[in-house]
Amino acid sequence: MSENTEITKAAVDAVVSDALKLIQGATDLASLKAVRSQAVGENSGITKLSSLMGKLPGDKKGEAGKLITAARTQLNEAFSAAETVFYQAEQNQKLLEESVDVTAAPMTQVLGARHPLSLLQDEIADVFIGMGWEIAEGPEVESEWFNFDALNFDADHPARAMQDTFFVEPVEAHLVLRTHTSPVQVRSLLERELPVYVLCPGRVFRTDELDATHTPVFHQVEGLAVDKGLTMADLKGTLEHFARIMFGPDAKIRLRPSFFPFTEPSAELDVWHPGAKGGARWVEWGGCGMVNPNVLLAAGIDPEVYSGFAFGMGIERTLMFRNDVKDMHDMVEADVRFSKQFGVVL
Ligand code: DAH
Repeated sequence: MSENTEITKAAVDAVVSDALKLIQGATDLASLKAVRSQAVGENSGITKLSSLMGKLPGDKKGEAGKLITAARTQLNEAFSAAETVFYQAEQNQKLLEESVDVTAAPMTQVLGARHPLSLLQDEIADVFIGMGWEIAEGPEVESEWFNFDALNFDADHPARAMQDTFFVEPVEAHLVLRTHTSPVQVRSLLERELPVYVLCPGRVFRTDELDATHTPVFHQVEGLAVDKGLTMADLKGTLEHFARIMFGPDAKIRLRPSFFPFTEPSAELDVWHPGAKGGARWVEWGGCGMVNPNVLLAAGIDPEVYSGFAFGMGIERTLMFRNDVKDMHDMVEADVRFSKQFGVVL
């Protein structure tokens, strides 16, 4: 850069030309900012030149002043013009980077669906919670005592046979994969204060092969009410209410005499299913009865004071005839297309 001692047109032109080169050498806002002081600021040639003004005789000041002012104006304009250009460029680049392509193919997230068995289980639970009942749970690996003995099964009852029940090794531990949800009856009676009104949904296990109507792992829901003065009429009324919510206001129930070790009397429960595919009909739904006094005694309850009723049914079976599911495989294969038919309920 030229060193000047006088403010001449040539000297001014020289510093202007040097400063313009600095400005033109900048390629973006940052590099422009870096040359600011040297091109137009306190370290610039034009600032140094103007500092000579003080030494000039009075009659030279006017001319020199004009030269300096014109030069400053030119440099400032050049600087701001460059600044505007770089600012615009950076803005455009930013907009480009942040822009959203509204025509781009959407990223679709495939949603799952809750399994219809879970939905049905919740729906059933809601019916009973609505009547003030509580939900009770028990372990899936259950002691033989809760699964059979406490429920009044004889030592040689065929249901205990190895070919029906999964025994957990070692056999001396007397543990089984529970074959029904009925053991939760006795657990609930031992754990809770009377009266007891509980619904026990859960997974159960039997040594069945998987086919269109069987699966070795399935679900049941058990109901148990123990209170003073309960009769078969309470059982019937409860089941009728339950049936109407599940199958519509025209649904009704029918009890057929049967046998279960843990109820006396016992009944098979049929439901009149008005919406059945192919026409309204009776369908076997589950088992029920008045709690056998021996079960109450096993739980330390005086059967002279308290009575109870119980019922149990399969959730898979209920879903099959209620929603016309033809093949058990569909329920265990976890294909989301099957679940989605029942709606994506959260
Ligand atoms: N536990 C029975 C089963 O698995 C079903 C059942 C029948 C449950 C009668 C009950 C009942 O509570 O009273 O087949």
